[in-house]
Amino acid sequence: MQQSRENWGSKIGFILAAAGSAIGLGNIWRFPYVLGENGGAAFLFVYLICIGVIGLPVLIGEILIGRTGKRDPVGSFKALTKSKFWPYIGGMGIAAGFMILSFYAIVAGWSFGYIIEAIKGTFLEYSTPDEAANHFYLLISEVHWIIIMFVIFMIITMLFVYFGVQKGIERGSKIMMPALFILLIIVMIKGITMEGSGAGLEFLLKPDWSKISATVVLLALGQAFFTLSLGMGAMLTYGSYMSEKDNIPTSALQILVLDTLIAVIAGVAIFTAVFSTGLNPGEGAGLIFHTLPVVFSKMVGGYLFSIIFFILLSIAALTSTISLMEVITAYFVDELNWKRHSAVIVFGTVTIIFGIPSALSFNVLSDFKIFGLTIFGLMEYLTANIMLPLGGMLIAIFIAYVWGFDKAVIELKKGAEKLFEKSAWQITSWKFVLKYLAPVLIFIVLLQSVGLLDEISNLFK
Ligand code: PHE
Repeated sequence: MQQSRENWGSKIGFILAAAGSAIGLGNIWRFPYVLGENGGAAFLFVYLICIGVIGLPVLIGEILIGRTGKRDPVGSFKALTKSKFWPYIGGMGIAAGFMILSFYAIVAGWSFGYIIEAIKGTFLEYSTPDEAANHFYLLISEVHWIIIMFVIFMIITMLFVYFGVQKGIERGSKIMMPALFILLIIVMIKGITMEGSGAGLEFLLKPDWSKISATVVLLALGQAFFTLSLGMGAMLTYGSYMSEKDNIPTSALQILVLDTLIAVIAGVAIFTAVFSTGLNPGEGAGLIFHTLPVVFSKMVGGYLFSIIFFILLSIAALTSTISLMEVITAYFVDELNWKRHSAVIVFGTVTIIFGIPSALSFNVLSDFKIFGLTIFGLMEYLTANIMLPLGGMLIAIFIAYVWGFDKAVIELKKGAEKLFEKSAWQITSWKFVLKYLAPVLIFIVLLQSVGLLDEISNLFK
């Protein structure tokens, strides 16, 4: 039977944990590298629109489904509808969580491994990004390095989830977030004061509109979902531990603002450094590992900074991997009555095994391509650009057409009475986005992602 559910220890508990989930490698590793490959400022512009116009309403909706359903993604849909279809959408989210964790923990492992490199003082010897890049490639080409770091990171994640929700996550986030914030600002200031940094600022702020293409929109939307941990049930699961006294819209907005701020600060820090050291912004998934060590080597106190930075980056990644693991665990505990401990051990191990081919994508399997992507690249593409937006589209459709706004709005107002006292424009726009804008826009973008949009437009030629 359903036991009484653990709740967040404090009012700020949810916000901290959800922000911990949102803020991670998505902001500091993925955002700069995808932006660098796809047109800089123009990408940023589309990304910000996706975050504000689609991300926020869907985020509110996803948290709301969790708080009302009070269970894992599958169970929460079951609690809100009799239809047999919707729980499968929760199931897709759990599958996505599993896939994301399997590649995300690999990059988290790099960050963890870089703590050791920083302690060894490796970065102090760098004067050019080429040296940093070579060192990075050397490390990831070593099968044992990449796998050991990945496995260590998975085990740390498993330990936190094993010992339960609030203790681990709330405590971790409380310390990590402000510290990461301050450090990023310092690195950003260093970046801005480096010679030739202006070109980096220009790259981020002066849009070249010709760079906007259907692909850029797809990738920006995917990144918006990825960075908000949206569309796969992580926010839903964290919402399920929330009480009805908590204000969902305001919390969602706070999470979104923090997340965006961190991404933009990371972007400025990295691109000022990229341009002032003459690096190519389209360097790909290694971008931050090519740039940041060089910045540290040029900084006063860079030795200490580099250690602290990679520790904080690893903690930021950890609060995200915990949320991914938490989704999988909540499902097996809530739906299949597994013991929390067994769920963690079994699925942690399965994720490790499942992640190995992705880890090998950087060395032994680097020539093995599916649709032109390595296994790692495929996992990343499928989840961020397809499964998460699809999940978000279905969440919007579910609320608007299945659950119904009559019921949803009653739930939404709980804890947010004051917000809606004077005017209701927020609710009207929330409804509009979920009912029309999000489903239609995401659908078009998804057609594009599977190559159907071209075919359809050819029909009309
Ligand atoms: N939002 C996390 C980040 O930006 C990644 C993530 C995606 C976590 C989906 C949970 C679910 O690092």
